[in-house]
Amino acid sequence: PRSIWLSRHGESNFNLSGQIGGDADISERGELYARRLPELVAQSAGDTKLTIWTSTLKRTIQTARFLPFEKLEWKALDELDSGVCDGMTYGEIEEKYPEDFKARDDDKYNYRYLGGESYRDVVIRLEPIIMELERSENILIVTHQAILRCIYAYFMNVPQERSPWMEVPLHTLIKLTPKAYKTEEERMPAKI
Ligand code: F6P
Repeated sequence: PRSIWLSRHGESNFNLSGQIGGDADISERGELYARRLPELVAQSAGDTKLTIWTSTLKRTIQTARFLPFEKLEWKALDELDSGVCDGMTYGEIEEKYPEDFKARDDDKYNYRYLGGESYRDVVIRLEPIIMELERSENILIVTHQAILRCIYAYFMNVPQERSPWMEVPLHTLIKLTPKAYKTEEERMPAKI
């Protein structure tokens, strides 16, 4: 049966500072994950030849760069656009846009950042990605938290409204294998 592999990018300098969005480089720990990833993938996929899909942002490209496979960059895999809040911490957002902060907490799936996107928007822009995934084989996607939550919910048959709360940790390779009645899941944390 066909499997799909998913991974967030390695820890970025923005993850360290608690800033959202942006186009930061990966941190030293993120770099360790990037260097460990080929081994993790080999453990999970054996000698299956994979194709790597990343976003167009540096942290995913840097994370995937040691994988010995063909790579494709998709704009549609870029992180949820946080608009005017891009580059801010949650604390700064709460201070500067208290009503928005609360509105997001009340309805995280539908909340659209000023000048940016909602999870609902992301689900729509991921449609071509999902279609392409459905007719491809042996894809490893290295992308961002919000994006992976939506892709994960899709393959796990979880209603998209719940995607904002899916648990997709850093430095963990996820293997999904769709079966007739449910999708099998395997998680391999990198010990770094
Ligand atoms: O903090 C990392 C990050 O990927 C941000 O860039 C992004 O805005 C956020 O996570 C998405 O998570 P949430 O929807 O829970 O804020």
